[in-house]
Amino acid sequence: MKNLFARLSLRARLGLLYAALLILSVVLVSYYSYWNIWQLFTENEVSHMRARAKPIIEHWLKEQGLTAADSLRIKLKSEAFLQLAQDLTSRNAVAVILDAEGKIIASGKRLPEEPVPPPANIKYLRQAFSGMNEVTYWSERDGKPLLVFLIPLRPQPHNPKIFGVIQVSTSLAEINKILFRHGSMQISAVAIVLILGILFGYWLIGLSLKDLQNLSAACQQIARGNFSRRTKTTQRRDEIGKLAASFNLMIDKLERLFNSQKRFVANAAHELLTPLTGLRGSLEVLLRGAQDDPQALNRLSKGMYKEVNRLIRVCDQLLGLSRLENSANVDKRPIVLETFINDFKQRAKPLLQNRLFEVQNGPYLTFNADPDLLEQILFNLLSNALRYSSASSPIVLSWKLLPGYVEIRLSDQGIGMDEETLSHAFDPFFRGKPSAGAGHKGAGLGLSLTRSMVEAQGGSIRIVSTPGKGSTVFFTLPLV
Ligand SMILES: Nc1ncnc2c1ncn2[C@@H]1O[C@H](COP(=O)(O)OP(=O)(O)OP(=O)(O)O)[C@@H](O)[C@H]1O
Ligand SMILES: [Mg+2]
Repeated sequence: MKNLFARLSLRARLGLLYAALLILSVVLVSYYSYWNIWQLFTENEVSHMRARAKPIIEHWLKEQGLTAADSLRIKLKSEAFLQLAQDLTSRNAVAVILDAEGKIIASGKRLPEEPVPPPANIKYLRQAFSGMNEVTYWSERDGKPLLVFLIPLRPQPHNPKIFGVIQVSTSLAEINKILFRHGSMQISAVAIVLILGILFGYWLIGLSLKDLQNLSAACQQIARGNFSRRTKTTQRRDEIGKLAASFNLMIDKLERLFNSQKRFVANAAHELLTPLTGLRGSLEVLLRGAQDDPQALNRLSKGMYKEVNRLIRVCDQLLGLSRLENSANVDKRPIVLETFINDFKQRAKPLLQNRLFEVQNGPYLTFNADPDLLEQILFNLLSNALRYSSASSPIVLSWKLLPGYVEIRLSDQGIGMDEETLSHAFDPFFRGKPSAGAGHKGAGLGLSLTRSMVEAQGGSIRIVSTPGKGSTVFFTLPLV
């Protein structure tokens, strides 16, 4: 059964669950209403009959002339009881008077159409003889339902001596007929409500799940490699709409990531292929006999050495990028910023040659950072600033404190970047216009590597630049 349920579609399962809940609630409500009506009818019948019986009994007691002295020794003639029973009997109710053993002292039934009284129920009879005034119960005679109530007979009200019990029984056939009619009407209404409710529910569930089916179709197409496929359910505001929106967002991101990975691999291959092609060319010339010409040999060897260096640099940068994807490779240690920058200035001397590099000291700060990464960041930014500015222009490094961060900035007064360069400067393998950098050909990996190194330490980086005026790179590192 459980297996069968699990094998059903989600729509069928939800439909079944919905139908079961609907049936259960409708049946419960109908049963409750039927029971209430039944109670109401019977209570009404009992109070009506009691109201009718009360004056008759009082009148009869008065007629018998019973006094308080009689209460212990009551001797009434059976004709007197017969009179009372007959007075209480009507077309749809018959009264009998019972003694403590349940024997009929007198029966009011005279006409055949009057109901036949049911046999006494000893349990209830005892309750009435013990003084209970409100004993009412259901019984039946010849398969027909009867409502029975018992009235104890006492000489005076509150007198504990009970000398008989009047049993009045009335047929419930009329009430049953009304209830049957009400019940059949209710069953028809319930059946219509159920059929309409189930059909509507099934349709509604189908409508809700249609978007999930769309989503699943989109997933299958994407799995086949069609990354442009999206699902069209974003106008919905419910959970499925949110799921579809999140799905589209996720696929957007994946598509961008996938494309940038593809671009990255193609660029990396191209970047490696260029020096390798140069090397092959040189080797071919050498093999064709140039090794015998010392001048050509010298020139070609120098060229090959340059290409090999370029290959090593690109591989180094690529390795650096992939290493930084794992933040476990970041080794943070306490750093005194001022000391660190001054040491860096010393180490950068061969790179700076005669260029003007000014350090404007900011506040005294110690914080945790990876010293190798920080040095690499500063070298990359400094080499860009040197490369993309004229020999006479100064380069300035400074820092300041932000809430929770230190912001380090490096500015040059060089060629600056246009909007296109600025928006792609951090893309791997992106290089600005060939005119930039006075003919130097980098791989275009410096800034992307720098950004990875900053982000791996929990910081961020941005560039503000004006073409022809210069650029400032700002990067932050967390203090804690
Ligand atoms: N300080 C700067 N001033 C002007 N343009 C810059 C500056 N820094 C970077 N750029 C531009 O951004 C591009 C990307 O810089 P990035 O450092 O990533 O690569 P690269 O310097 O060309 O090569 P690599 O750093 O790999 O040797 C550069 O080609 C250049 O056009
Ligand atoms: Mg660079």
